[in-house]
Amino acid sequence: MKTLQNLELFVREDFPILDKNFNKKEKLIYLDHAATTQKPKQVIKRINDYYLNSNANVHRGAHQLSAKATEEFENARLSIKNYIKADSEKEIIFTRNATEAINIVAKSWGEKNLQENDEILLSIMEHHSNIVPWQLVAERNKCKVKFTKITNDGTLDIEDFKNKLNTNTKIVSIVHISNTLGCCNPIKQITQLAKNNGSLVLVDACQSLAHTEVDVKDLNIDFLAGSGHKLCGPTGIGFLWSREEILDKMPPLFGGGEMIQDVFEEKSTWADLPHKFEAGTPAIAEAIGLSEALNYLNKLGLKNIQKYEKELTEYLFEKLLSLKI
Ligand SMILES: Cc1ncc(COP(=O)(O)O)c(C=O)c1O
Repeated sequence: MKTLQNLELFVREDFPILDKNFNKKEKLIYLDHAATTQKPKQVIKRINDYYLNSNANVHRGAHQLSAKATEEFENARLSIKNYIKADSEKEIIFTRNATEAINIVAKSWGEKNLQENDEILLSIMEHHSNIVPWQLVAERNKCKVKFTKITNDGTLDIEDFKNKLNTNTKIVSIVHISNTLGCCNPIKQITQLAKNNGSLVLVDACQSLAHTEVDVKDLNIDFLAGSGHKLCGPTGIGFLWSREEILDKMPPLFGGGEMIQDVFEEKSTWADLPHKFEAGTPAIAEAIGLSEALNYLNKLGLKNIQKYEKELTEYLFEKLLSLKI
C-alpha cells in the first residue's frame, strides 16, 4: 500500500486544516467531504490574493481595478466551461450553489414549459434540492412528480425508470453520483431513453464533479448543476450549465442590476447570456476561488483521484475483514 501512503501524504500537506490538533492528541481526520470538502491552501491563497490585489465590482466600473476583477471573474467562468467541456462560457450561469441552479431550471424553464398532467421524473435517491423545487413547480402548474425506485443492492432500478418514462414525461432530473448511496447512475443510458421519449435531462453533478470526468456533450444532457464547495472550492458559489438555445428561451428568474440591457419606466430588456440570469453583484472572490479549485483538481488529475479512491476502498475493506468482531 505504498502508493496509498505517498498520495495521502502529498495531498494532506495541501490542506492546512488537517494539520490542526483539535483534540490535543491527534491530527484531524475529516470524513465528511460529501457534505463539504476542505479547502487546499492554493484556493485559500487565491481568494486572499484577489482581495489583496484585485477587489472591485465587475462589469460596471470604468476603472482599471474593475477591469482586472472582471477579467479574473470571467476567466473563472471559462475554467468551468473547460472543466465540463461545454461549448461556450455563455452557457455557464453562476449561482450560489447547486440548489439555486436546480431552482432556476424548475422555476424558469418549468413554469414556462410544463402543462397540466405533464410529468417530472426523478429518482428516490435524490437530494432534497432535486425534489422540492420540482414539487413547487408541479403544484403551481398542476403536473406530477414521479420517482424511479432503487433495487435491493442500492442502485437505480432502470426497468422501473423505463416503465415510468412515458409521453407525459417532459423532464428527467437525476443525480449523477448519489450522496446517500454512493452509486454512479448510468447517465448516458438514461439520456438515450429520455431523448427517444422527447424528454429533457437535468443532471445533479454535485457529488461527481470532483471524482469523475463530466463531459456535458458526451453525456448528451440538457442541464447540469454543480456546487463549488463540494469541489475543494468555497461556499456561496455554484453553477448551472445548459445549452445556449435552451437558456435563450428561458425567462430570467431574478431581476435587478447586471441582468438588464435597458430599463424604462414601463418595461426592461434583458442582457445577453449568461448575465440574464445573474442579477446583482455576484460572488466574485468565490468564483475565482472555485476556478483555482478546478486547477487543483486538474493538477491532481481525476484519473489519479479515482485510482486513489479505489486503493483506499480496497485498503479499508482489507482492514475491515481483518477485524475480529
Ligand atoms: C447530490 C447532491 N445534490 C445537491 C446537493 C445540494 O448542494 P448545495 O447545498 O450546495 O446546493 C447536495 C449536497 O449535499 C448533494 O449531495
